This record gives sequence, C-alpha cells and structure tokens, in this order.
Amino acid sequence: MNIEKDVFFTRRSVRNYTNKKIEKAKIEYIINSGMHAPSAKNIKSWEFIVIDDKNIFTEINKIHPYSNMILECSHAIIVCGNLDIDKDGCWWIQNCAAATQNILLASESIGIGSCWLGVAPYEELMTKISDMFSMPSHIKPFCIITLGYSSKPPRMAKTRYEIEKIHYNKFGTKIDF
Ligand SMILES: Cc1cc2nc3c(=O)[nH]c(=O)nc-3n(C[C@H](O)[C@H](O)[C@H](O)COP(=O)(O)O)c2cc1C
Repeated sequence: MNIEKDVFFTRRSVRNYTNKKIEKAKIEYIINSGMHAPSAKNIKSWEFIVIDDKNIFTEINKIHPYSNMILECSHAIIVCGNLDIDKDGCWWIQNCAAATQNILLASESIGIGSCWLGVAPYEELMTKISDMFSMPSHIKPFCIITLGYSSKPPRMAKTRYEIEKIHYNKFGTKIDF
C-alpha cells in the first residue's frame, strides 16, 4: 500500500497536454483496461470510439460546454453503452462508468493524463454526440475521455479521506482504524 504512488491516489483530471501523440499500443492498452472492468451479469455492454482527428475535436468542443481541453488532446475515447447487449436497459450506465474509471487509472499507470467529460444523462448532448458519430439507436454515448501527455506537473494530491463517511456495521456508528 503506497498512498504517494498508487494510481488511485495520484490520478487527477489532466486538462493541458503536450503535442506528443500517444503511441497506438498505449491506446490499445488503455482500452483493454476498460474492457476488463466489472459489468452487471458480465454483459460487457460497452463500445469505444477512438478519435484522433483534430477537426472532430473542434466539432465536439462546439457542442460540449466543458471541453476546452479536447482541443489539445492527443486522443479521445467515447465510451458508449450498447442496448442490444444490455437487454434490461438499466446496466449500461454503471458498466460504462466502471470501464471509464479503469481507463483513467490505466492511463495514469502509464504516464498518460486523462479527463472524463460527462455526456449521459443529458439527452440533448447525447443526441448531438450520437448524430455526430452516426450511432445507431441502440448505441448510447456515456462519456468522452480526453487523453494526452500532461504539459504541466501533476497537481499535488490533496487527501480526500473523510473518516466521517465510513460507518461501522450500521449507519452513523464510527469506526476506529
Ligand atoms: C461524471 C463526471 C463528469 C465530468 N465531466 C467533466 C467535464 O465535462 N469537464 C471537465 O473538465 N471535467 C469533468 N469531470 C472531471 C471532474 O471535474 C473531476 O473529476 C473533479 O473535479 C475531481 O478532480 P480530479 O479528477 O482531478 O480528482 C467529470 C467527472 C465525472 C466523474
């Protein structure tokens, strides 16, 4: 256990990137990590769109209000839910979130900065992204992840540990670590 080095503690959203392009093998590694996330009933109801076209980044930036970093990134990945696989229609958000978090942590582990840009559940934004990428109706955009080599030193990780949020055996009882 190493609170200074383990990726769960060191990962932060990175919104400034150098011009260096991420190597293909690293992109594959990062997506592979997403595909190893847990998923309800092990249905793996996700799809990943890899983007490295600056024109597309510009188009996304026009419709996503908090996405300026996309103009600098090397690659972006749109994590999508597949409702043909998720027959219950209720698991894709959680499955995509698990895949997304794996991607952020895998990126950190190989020195790549990342930022999670929310898309779902904003219907209007989801429709715009679906249209932009010609997604069939059973494919739902969940989020966009920007990736790149960080151009700024990582911000110091402030602790977010809050012992008050840990309950012992029942809600409201303190735990003594
Ligand atoms: C569901 C979700 C949506 C987010 N959407 C955006 C976004 O649209 N733009 C952005 O710059 N950051 C976005 N973030 C990143 C958060 O702002 C960031 O994780 C948070 O401020 C904590 O900072 P950290 O990631 O450095 O720990 C999003 C994060 C999550 C989990």
